[in-house]
Amino acid sequence: MSITDANSAGFVHGGIVMKLCDEAAGIAAVKHSRRRVVTAAIDRMTFLDPVQVGQLLSFKATVNAVWQTSLEVGVRVEAENPRTGDVRHTSTAYLTMVVLDDEGRPAQAPPLLAESPDEKRRMREAELRRQNRLAEREQIRAARSAERPG
Ligand SMILES: CC(C)(COP(=O)(O)OP(=O)(O)OC[C@H]1O[C@@H](n2cnc3c(N)ncnc32)[C@H](O)[C@@H]1OP(=O)(O)O)[C@@H](O)C(=O)NCCC(=O)NCCS
Repeated sequence: MSITDANSAGFVHGGIVMKLCDEAAGIAAVKHSRRRVVTAAIDRMTFLDPVQVGQLLSFKATVNAVWQTSLEVGVRVEAENPRTGDVRHTSTAYLTMVVLDDEGRPAQAPPLLAESPDEKRRMREAELRRQNRLAEREQIRAARSAERPG
């Protein structure tokens, strides 16, 4: 990370980290589907520890779960001090990507096989996040229609 990535406090700007998470997630989704993808949502982004200018950031993106045309990618961000080799986990992000056909319409995503205990846990947790997201959307819709007069 360079000085041009810094915010006014002198740390790396969160928006820069988010952009790089989006790029890593996009690459993972394209590699899984071998098609174009778009970001439908950044569902969660945590900043656990500030990143300093001069540190080396690594982005590890994993496809956690696949539904019809959408999939969830989890991104783990680590910051390394290149002089000491000290590595810290600084962010985690979860993004929903949608696979597109050649006309730009949502297209069926290839299925995902979860084999290891970690892969199965990631799939379960992604399913939980999706259910919570859909339930929240429904609750907001219901609350808004209850607020409407008549
Ligand atoms: C994402 C997008 C393709 C969805 O199109 P749409 O017409 O709403 O398509 P659908 O209703 O058929 O939904 C397609 C999938 O997207 C998912 N989706 C749509 N909006 C979503 C949202 N806000 N959050 C999470 N998932 C979403 C749906 O759940 C569905 O998933 P499924 O097929 O696995 O069940 C469209 O909204 C779009 O192009 N958005 C702009 C994307 C963009 O510009 N991104 C930034 C640059 S890459």
